Amino acid sequence: MSCLLILVAFFAASTFAAALPQWNWSWNWGSQKQLRFTRAGTFQIAIFEDLHFGENAWDSWGPQQDINSVKVLNEVLDAENQQLVVLNGDLITGENAYKFNSTVYIDQIAGPLVQRGLPWASTYGNHDSDYNLSRSDILAREHRYSNALTTQMVFGREAGVSNYYLLVYPSYGGQVPCLILWFFDSRGGFYYQEKDADGNRVGQPDWVDQSVVNWFQQTNARLSRQYRKTIPSLAFVHIPTNASQALQTEAGVDPNYQPGINDDYILAQQAQGWCPDGRNDGTCEYGAQDVPFMQAVTSTPGLMALFSGHDHGDTWCYKWNGVLPGMTVDGNGLNICFGQHSGYGGYGTWTRGARQVLITEEKLRHGVVDTWIRLETGDVVGSVELNKTYNHDYYPATPDTHTSCPTCNYTIVTPMPGTKRR
Ligand SMILES: *[C@@H]1O[C@H](CO)[C@@H](O)[C@H](O)[C@H]1NC(C)=O
Ligand SMILES: *[C@@H]1O[C@H](CO)[C@@H](O)[C@H](O)[C@H]1NC(C)=O
Ligand SMILES: *[C@@H]1O[C@H](CO)[C@@H](O)[C@H](O)[C@H]1NC(C)=O
Ligand SMILES: *[C@@H]1O[C@H](CO)[C@@H](O)[C@H](O)[C@H]1NC(C)=O
Ligand SMILES: *[C@@H]1O[C@H](CO)[C@@H](O)[C@H](O)[C@H]1NC(C)=O
Ligand SMILES: *[C@@H]1O[C@H](CO)[C@@H](O)[C@H](O)[C@H]1NC(C)=O
Repeated sequence: MSCLLILVAFFAASTFAAALPQWNWSWNWGSQKQLRFTRAGTFQIAIFEDLHFGENAWDSWGPQQDINSVKVLNEVLDAENQQLVVLNGDLITGENAYKFNSTVYIDQIAGPLVQRGLPWASTYGNHDSDYNLSRSDILAREHRYSNALTTQMVFGREAGVSNYYLLVYPSYGGQVPCLILWFFDSRGGFYYQEKDADGNRVGQPDWVDQSVVNWFQQTNARLSRQYRKTIPSLAFVHIPTNASQALQTEAGVDPNYQPGINDDYILAQQAQGWCPDGRNDGTCEYGAQDVPFMQAVTSTPGLMALFSGHDHGDTWCYKWNGVLPGMTVDGNGLNICFGQHSGYGGYGTWTRGARQVLITEEKLRHGVVDTWIRLETGDVVGSVELNKTYNHDYYPATPDTHTSCPTCNYTIVTPMPGTKRR
């Protein structure tokens, strides 16, 4: 069943239903918050990741970075025609946060979105949790805006916060969704206002928890039963899984077949820095706790692509096929993509931008989506079609371009007042 079939049904219905609603908006402002394909049968998502607001508020360059990050939001949103914005983690740099105003930065991010009437949905990243910054408080701050669709569907200390799904409905009405968007919390960083016996911050595990994997599988099965079909889906998570690292190191990223920057080598992944037994005392590189999540995403019919951030210097998409050397999980052809570093905070000077994902009702029938990266310079790079032959289709390589913050003077970098130099 596709959105097109539903569309045809509605054309037929319109001959006797005079007052067919003219869905001009992708966003229904009524009491029911509904995402919908445009009348042209398209739904475009702009993914901003690693905005890293709120760095060094006490040095002049900190606030200057944020002014420039707001410009990135404005430039990219004006250049594209998105119906939804995804903020894919690390909205704020938590280690620089003051407890009394740590979530106020959400207002700066929300500004350009509210001005344009755009709905948005977030996942939280490892920097969104720290001694002075709480994920739950970020969610509460987002909820001051009716455009915020971020929510919490799984509870408990181990689950994280930003685990939920959104349904997208077809262009010509109806109450049968034709696309599911899944959002997962890969956690990380440090627990809010917690210190151990030695006065150190308490680390939060950095993978998608088993309770979330269970919820995902049960909820997906329930949705399939309820609508009597497999609904195509896309997923978002801040930290990529071990599969991304294995593709990078074992299969290799080719600039023409997986176009994008590949500068973060070897990339950082979920369960990094943790031991299999749950210790994170610096003795282990990787604990493999992301295996259940990898098994879940590769055994979900209709899941077309998984988008992550975290590694600012990696921007490619890969089709994950087969069992890679050293791995146990069998890739089922799932596309896994990085986005583009969007903020002036956070490491790296790669040209800021945002990955775009264009879903059309027509291509959705074949499980195919188009994606590209829009840079703040106006350039478009890495435009690919995630179809059956992705990995074998030849594309132009993405130039490895950089920019620096034009208004930031990085000469003076001082430690946070009131804290000891580390
Ligand atoms: C809404 O419809 C008008 C008139 O048909 C058109 O000019 C406009 O671009 C549409 N807006 C959207 C968001 O589709
Ligand atoms: C938060 O408080 C710090 C310290 O007073 C200040 O420098 C910073 O500008 C504040 N941030 C915001 C977004 O108001
Ligand atoms: C947390 O924020 C308070 C002010 O709200 C500040 O005094 C303190 O130094 C901060 N602590 C850390 C670890 O950043
Ligand atoms: C993680 O990926 C590496 C390759 O980068 C591989 O050697 C290792 O076996 C993988 N681990 C698991 C549990 O899949
Ligand atoms: C996939 O997309 C590429 C680029 O548009 C195209 O060349 C290729 O033929 C497509 N493959 C299939 C199976 O449609
Ligand atoms: C940057 O700040 C330093 C120290 O205040 C100053 O000497 C220098 O002139 C500044 N640079 C620019 C380009 O403003």
